[in-house]
Amino acid sequence: MANPSILILAGDGIGPEVMAEVKKIIGWFGDKRGIAFDVTEDLVGGSAYDVHGTPLTDETMAKAQAADAVLLGAVGGPKYDVLDFSVKPERGLLRLRKEMDLFSNLRPAQCFDALADFSSLKKEVVAGLDIMIVRELTSGVYFGEPRGIFPDNEGGRVGVNTQRYTTDEIRRVARSAFELARRRGNKVCSMEKANVMESGILWREEVQWVHDNEYPDVELSHMYADAGAMQLVRWPKQFDVIVTDNLFGDLLSDCAAMLTGSLGMLPSASLGAPTESGRPKALYEPVHGSAPDIAGQGKANPIACILSFAMALRYSFDLGEEASRVERAVEAVLADGARTADLMGPEGGVPVSTAGMGDLIVQA
Ligand code: NAI
Ligand code: MG
Repeated sequence: MANPSILILAGDGIGPEVMAEVKKIIGWFGDKRGIAFDVTEDLVGGSAYDVHGTPLTDETMAKAQAADAVLLGAVGGPKYDVLDFSVKPERGLLRLRKEMDLFSNLRPAQCFDALADFSSLKKEVVAGLDIMIVRELTSGVYFGEPRGIFPDNEGGRVGVNTQRYTTDEIRRVARSAFELARRRGNKVCSMEKANVMESGILWREEVQWVHDNEYPDVELSHMYADAGAMQLVRWPKQFDVIVTDNLFGDLLSDCAAMLTGSLGMLPSASLGAPTESGRPKALYEPVHGSAPDIAGQGKANPIACILSFAMALRYSFDLGEEASRVERAVEAVLADGARTADLMGPEGGVPVSTAGMGDLIVQA
């Protein structure tokens, strides 16, 4: 059988720097664990624009569709700010998400004990925290029609966006949340505003339907999203998997992410429908951008990108044990005090470069 395939799109700015450390870890799996991947690399974002005049060529798009998983660094940079909207680096990323139909966005908020002091919350509130926010990514108010800015009847203007969800759109993201919960703490909390929005009523009913008919073994609760926001900062450890729509998920996932500290630590996955192989279409990427302010200086924290690869091991390749191995290595290196610049708190630590951090994690 062919090895599973990974397409690496390192992108711009610190993207290639953090991806270099992931490649060390992929190499380690081949050498030490006999787990080999067929790795292909290509261009995305500004680096693709520089060569091809477009942030994502059709050939690269086809490779992404065919790969078992896509690993992306980051795109963008000040050099490209002057470009027309249609060829901006971000358009490459948007095209990938859209054409691969990646409707389920997974954003873990996991607190490593060594960094608990980094949280804006008290240590006991966040220590050991491990929650997963599942955000619907391809529908809802960011896409619903009608939308636009129109003249109103009084000579003013009216801005319109439409929150719209179909039964199928809700059910498929709900399934993805229940599947995840089964591999974790077996608990899902669904968040909407069923008290004031019809789309929220449908959301609640359909999530409940998927639960009752397909996942009765998973514990399901419902919460209004505003109350959910309060609970997230009051007592986040009550949650395991949270599933919510595109808009609420955008806000709640950013909020949850900051419970755990630095942007340089945050991975993500975007999953689509299962393919013939049984694997979902999948794109893994750090939450951070191309960080032009520190690019080329060896200062970037590679952990977000490394943890994104760990998510690929778990969710695309069914290698949960190996994913935990990577996460434990990160934990151990942090516990030993190694810190990239973004993690250097008041207590200090052992300063390491991007490559230094990657090497330590490989060793661990
Ligand atoms: P950013 O995430 O690139 O940087 C925000 C701040 O966090 C900067 O001070 C940066 O130095 C720091 N930072 C980010 N990642 C880090 C890491 N791994 N280690 C240490 N420090 C890190 O967001 P910003 O500055 O708003 O955007 C910069 C460029 O990135 C823009 O062109 C933007 O469009 C693009 N961008 C791309 C994203 C993507 O590819 N998914 C996401 C967000 C922004
Ligand atoms: Mg956001």
